[in-house]
Amino acid sequence: MADVIGDEHGITPAQLKDLAQTTAPLIQQLNKERQDGETPYRDLPYNSKIAQEVKELVEELKGRCENLVVFGIGGSALGNIALQTALNPYMHNLDENQRTGPRLFVFDNIDPPQLVSFLDWLGDKLEKTIFNAISKSGWTAETAAQFMIVRQLLLDKLGPDDCKKQIITTTDANQGILRSIANNAGIKSLVIPEGIGGRFSVLSAVGLFSAAMCGIDIDSLLEGARDMDARVKCEDFYKNPAAINAAINYHFYNRGKRISVMMPYSYHLKDLSDWYRQLWAESLGKKEDLTGNDVHIGPTPVKALGTTDQHSQVQLYREGPNDKLFTFLQVRNFDKDIKIGPAPEYAQELGFLAGKDLSELLNNEKKATEYALLESERPCLTVLFDRVNAYTIGQFIYLYEVTTSLAGALFGINPYDQPAVELGKQATFALMSKPGDYEPGYTYEEFANKIQSLNKIDEKFLV
Ligand code: PA5
Repeated sequence: MADVIGDEHGITPAQLKDLAQTTAPLIQQLNKERQDGETPYRDLPYNSKIAQEVKELVEELKGRCENLVVFGIGGSALGNIALQTALNPYMHNLDENQRTGPRLFVFDNIDPPQLVSFLDWLGDKLEKTIFNAISKSGWTAETAAQFMIVRQLLLDKLGPDDCKKQIITTTDANQGILRSIANNAGIKSLVIPEGIGGRFSVLSAVGLFSAAMCGIDIDSLLEGARDMDARVKCEDFYKNPAAINAAINYHFYNRGKRISVMMPYSYHLKDLSDWYRQLWAESLGKKEDLTGNDVHIGPTPVKALGTTDQHSQVQLYREGPNDKLFTFLQVRNFDKDIKIGPAPEYAQELGFLAGKDLSELLNNEKKATEYALLESERPCLTVLFDRVNAYTIGQFIYLYEVTTSLAGALFGINPYDQPAVELGKQATFALMSKPGDYEPGYTYEEFANKIQSLNKIDEKFLV
């Protein structure tokens, strides 16, 4: 619930009523779009076929996978990382007593020293390693390059027959080069259903496979999402958490809060704010509205972490421009807790902390930060987790996906495309000497020449 702090920096009851009136028809519109099959991500929590396929594959790989390596980027990686951080212990990769599946490594970048260091470590463990290349389009250069590096490594070390046993692809059923590779090489493959973009795909095989492999209860995850669905399709604005969340964000955006800070007070929730950052930015940052007018709209999502960023960002948040809406993620009951020890005799000034739960300190830091922000008339809202588990994470994911759809409707833009990302992808292809035409009558080579001419380093500006 948002804290009401006045007309300009809060929400008055009259403003809330207006928001309810504006948003209610959009909930109906979204429900209709869903019935018409326009938002297939909404049905993922009910897709038992995907969950079954994933579980069967996990069963098949049991016993021969000590390391799971995910190659993917953006929506093909951020959900995997968020689920792993949220639902497995901090020391999952390092302590086999704390994990119930393989170690997980997600490479969502193509940094050469990072990959080389990893492959050096992997050395003779290839036979016990599964590589999952994820790409919806099947054409993403980063993922393709990672795949090609590892394929060659596996061919050299294990030979063609065993090579393919170590790779799983997750991609579109019919389209893209990753699909033809999987089909031609006889590589096992999981399918991303049609019409689901990367950032809305975490509850498909994209996120479910690595989660299930690493011991996460995907049935509870999907159950949480389904239960949230019952709430976010409710056409009564005041009972619909996605509608209220989207409306609050829309309201504050229109009052100059162009930056949305998500600040979890929990290590387990920290990568959810990275996932949210992509979901919010790619979905809502748009040049054109639905009628084709230039609007250049979209809140800028920022991730922060409590309490860490109290000591790096809060000075700005309180005294800098009043252009931010703060969303805290708070956990009521931590699954593990620890008491603060007694104060040393010679430091009795610390006695007030002694014997208290560490979670009490963490949650009071959150309250204190929120109070300080409200004192500076900075609007805040909190998403409260009773506990962090697969069920509540499923709820959170679905809540934010539908919040994003509703925010898109409020802003009057299409939240499901990302036209501005495409140009950079195509420019990379050109610079990497892709043959053929970029557009009819305009080759990749010509395109590359244009980019190169703009990228010449002028020595006189080097200092
Ligand atoms: O959300 C999106 O659509 C993007 O972030 C994509 O996930 C990202 O660009 C990777 O694309 P692909 O999954 O096609 O490799």
